[in-house]
Amino acid sequence: MLELAEPLPQTPLQRAAAARDLEAATILPGRAEDLVYEAGGRRLIDGLELRLEAGPLTVLVGPNGAGKSLLLRLLHGLIEPSAGQLHWAGRAPGKETRRRQAMVFQRPVMLRRSAAANLHYALRAKGLDGLPLAELARDWLARAGLAELAGRPARLLSGGEQQRLAVARALSTGPEVLFLDEPTASLDPASALAIEELILEARAAGTKIVLVTHDLGQARRLADEVVFLYRGRVEAQAPAERFFDDPISDKARAFVAGRIVV
Ligand SMILES: Nc1ncnc2c1ncn2[C@@H]1O[C@H](COP(=O)(O)OP(=O)(O)OP(=O)(O)O)[C@@H](O)[C@H]1O
Ligand SMILES: [Mg+2]
Repeated sequence: MLELAEPLPQTPLQRAAAARDLEAATILPGRAEDLVYEAGGRRLIDGLELRLEAGPLTVLVGPNGAGKSLLLRLLHGLIEPSAGQLHWAGRAPGKETRRRQAMVFQRPVMLRRSAAANLHYALRAKGLDGLPLAELARDWLARAGLAELAGRPARLLSGGEQQRLAVARALSTGPEVLFLDEPTASLDPASALAIEELILEARAAGTKIVLVTHDLGQARRLADEVVFLYRGRVEAQAPAERFFDDPISDKARAFVAGRIVV
């Protein structure tokens, strides 16, 4: 007689994720239609169209001031669009959408407590109480190469160390969608590669990643698809190979060639 194999034991985060999945279905795809954001009398996001599918790692590129950081804030629900539509799995964004997303800011925000406590706090805030938080926090600090700095006040870490902590903190909560705004901008090459590894692991585990970078080498290494933002609009959205080998628009071609487009 056949004996059923014991299922593999789940990790605490997998259990939490499974419980979460029972609560509601996925929040993907994300969709922006004719999205507008105005401030200071300027149209900073100007009729933007974007579709974010589950799966591909999306890299967002574009010149300074194109609206990349604003777009991430809009997608994460931190600012309200002035006009247009934003939908996650066909529904208007709400508290639940935000809970399933995480964001790492261009300038990371650290709580006035230790590196390890910053991770604890993020895990508790996501309702992951009841899990072995200390163990999880230690594990994520180690993965970010920060094990020895666990007890150090987070605000005293170097800029690059804070960025690594911010990425680990965001990933530790097991988001379905992760927004990363230039997560390796001030990192030395080895640290940047370590963060890229973490990002690729998260993608392999099924996290949808939307990453802003000015580093076209990094974009080539990580991107499944590229979105090129120009003056508050999506000028091109294409599979990475296509984008780099045969950019769809003249502006994208100029950007890839390193000729500044303003
Ligand atoms: N609250 C605001 N009020 C007025 N203008 C703003 C506001 N926030 C952003 N901007 C302007 O909107 C434009 C887009 O800003 P954003 O930070 O999204 O650019 P970015 O593409 O992320 O650029 P960078 O590559 O330099 O980070 C910029 O010109 C910026 O000065
Ligand atoms: Mg920015």
